[in-house]
Amino acid sequence: MIVEGKYYKTVWMEGNSVMMINQNLLPFTFEIHECKTYWETCMAITDMTVRGAGAIGAAAGFAMAQAFLELQTFDKAVRLREARQDIENTRPTARNLFYAVEKVYQAGLESPDNAVRAANSIATEDEESSRAIGKWGASLIGAKSNILTHCNAGWLAFVDYGTALAPVYYAAENNKQVFVYVDETRPRGQGGRLTAWELYQNKIPHVIIPDNAAASLMKEGKIDMVIVGADRIAANGDVANKIGTLGRAILAKKYKIPFYIAAPSSTFDLSCKSGNDIPIEKRSQDEVLYQTGPDANGNMVKIRVCSPGSQAYNPAFDVTDAALITGIITEKGIVKPNITSISQLFKKSE
Ligand code: MRU
Repeated sequence: MIVEGKYYKTVWMEGNSVMMINQNLLPFTFEIHECKTYWETCMAITDMTVRGAGAIGAAAGFAMAQAFLELQTFDKAVRLREARQDIENTRPTARNLFYAVEKVYQAGLESPDNAVRAANSIATEDEESSRAIGKWGASLIGAKSNILTHCNAGWLAFVDYGTALAPVYYAAENNKQVFVYVDETRPRGQGGRLTAWELYQNKIPHVIIPDNAAASLMKEGKIDMVIVGADRIAANGDVANKIGTLGRAILAKKYKIPFYIAAPSSTFDLSCKSGNDIPIEKRSQDEVLYQTGPDANGNMVKIRVCSPGSQAYNPAFDVTDAALITGIITEKGIVKPNITSISQLFKKSE
């Protein structure tokens, strides 16, 4: 992505360090965060300095490679298994994390350099898939289209380009008139903070809407299609994505609006027969009870926005039933959310 005239990826490796755009500071401050050890990278994934399915996957792969570079003691086999567990415990829903850790772990058994190579190739694969998703997805977008998206599945959520926003970028590059309605996406505000920032950087016309505005906009005929990302897709086409996605899908069905998921094949988990098998991450209640932003001096401060004394419940994802989904835009094409089409997708790539 280009930020103030310079090209950046969301996450990359430099020597033994993992470098990433600090997403907790965006959109107020643009800063690169360095993780010198695999444990620091784990912390950055947990506290969402790096976030979004593909970026989490790439960071997790790099963290596994860091562990191979770091852990050279006599008991390294045990320590590496512990490190793998630490990385896998950071964000349980994101399928790309487990995909990357498994690949880099196997590669690292040969040599630490091989682990680094494998981690880099997962990052490259993520970028290439995103670009292909952009092209396939843009074929669904009309010459003039109003698109609703939830959370952030753009550049920041992947190594580059993104998934749900990739078709928007591709369509705009090809002179289609796209307008994006951006769900604010409480509690962490990935829509209002990150998607809006990305679209602004790219001069894509958009507006941020409160999460509870989608129903009336759909009823008024203001939305032509919905495109969102995915954190894990089950074999039957059920999709786990940011909390609130299910509500948008139910509304889209009610108002006969096409509802698309955009995700690379690395997000599918065929070991989950249905969405019931997908683990849903529960995050700290503080994310609901407090909001964070810069004070007059630019320092990030946290203020309580809910009634003192009450507690909050904070599931980070929900599962949208396959029956509510029009199609899944992958790097290999657009598939129907059912077991037959999904298994064909994986047969093709064997
Ligand atoms: O909790 P996050 O911000 O890491 O959420 C993941 C996501 O980015 C969204 O659920 C997104 O729509 C999935 S695709 C990146």
